[in-house]
Amino acid sequence: MGRALITGASSGLGREFAWALAAEGNDLVLVARDSDRLNKLADELRQKANVGVEVLPADLNSVDGVDSVAKRIQAVNQPVTLLINNAGMGLGQDFVGGDITRELNAINVMVNAVLVLTHAAVNTMVPRGRGTIINVSSITSMTVQGTYSAHKAWVKVFTEGVATDLEGTGVNITAVLPGLMHTEFHQRVKVDAGQWQEFMFMDPQYVANVALDAARRGQVIVVPTAMYKATYGLLKFAPRTLVRRFAGPKMSGRL
Ligand SMILES: NC(=O)c1ccc[n+]([C@@H]2O[C@H](COP(=O)([O-])OP(=O)(O)OC[C@H]3O[C@@H](n4cnc5c(N)ncnc54)[C@H](OP(=O)(O)O)[C@@H]3O)[C@@H](O)[C@H]2O)c1
Repeated sequence: MGRALITGASSGLGREFAWALAAEGNDLVLVARDSDRLNKLADELRQKANVGVEVLPADLNSVDGVDSVAKRIQAVNQPVTLLINNAGMGLGQDFVGGDITRELNAINVMVNAVLVLTHAAVNTMVPRGRGTIINVSSITSMTVQGTYSAHKAWVKVFTEGVATDLEGTGVNITAVLPGLMHTEFHQRVKVDAGQWQEFMFMDPQYVANVALDAARRGQVIVVPTAMYKATYGLLKFAPRTLVRRFAGPKMSGRL
């Protein structure tokens, strides 16, 4: 048993990570902006899973928000043994003609916060000789759907680089590359998830469990479901000219 700090715990995949870890008896630190939702979830987790739950409301788009979470990761008392960098969002816009504030918000949450929090975690966990980090990337990291793909590709390559640094330290890091999931992700950016066939969606509960199992095995990259594993293989070996032609911004689903 340990203590997991999960960013973006208030909904979707983050919430599923929280339930999966609580079911195993782990204590939790829940991070997101919406403190009411976090407190409600924390109460349910305490009652149903009988685990300790801290609520740490923070906006990862702000320096202060990221700093407060980094400080919690570095705390000596009630140490965090598993960090899950999960918070993220769609851009909901094209880069050309898009709002630059929204672009900066996305890079702050999905790149800057992941960098700072992973830095805090490895520098706290390595001296202890143990610890685990899971970074949520996306299958989109293999495509070219605007800056979202770029951010998720950064998460994947960053994770691989840190994994190499961590060899022999007792600390593991894993990037999970989910495909489409039914969460609040699409509705937040007003994308109609109904435009995709149902078989293309994965269950976020399954994704959370696959990611946790892979992290425990020390696997650096994990792609849930056979269908998306095949998609990953195809995108890895396809000529980039083809990827640019067929897996560009039009795949993002904005109508
Ligand atoms: N859904 C998909 O199809 C899909 C596919 C591949 C990868 N992913 C990735 O999976 C991860 C989880 O997304 P999801 O699908 O579960 O979407 P979601 O249901 O919209 O959850 C996103 C979470 O991120 C939090 N968040 C957003 N902005 C934040 C900020 N500025 N500061 C702190 N927390 C913030 C949200 O909480 P608050 O609003 O309370 O802050 C929420 O808890 C993301 O990294 C996403 O990119 C999703």
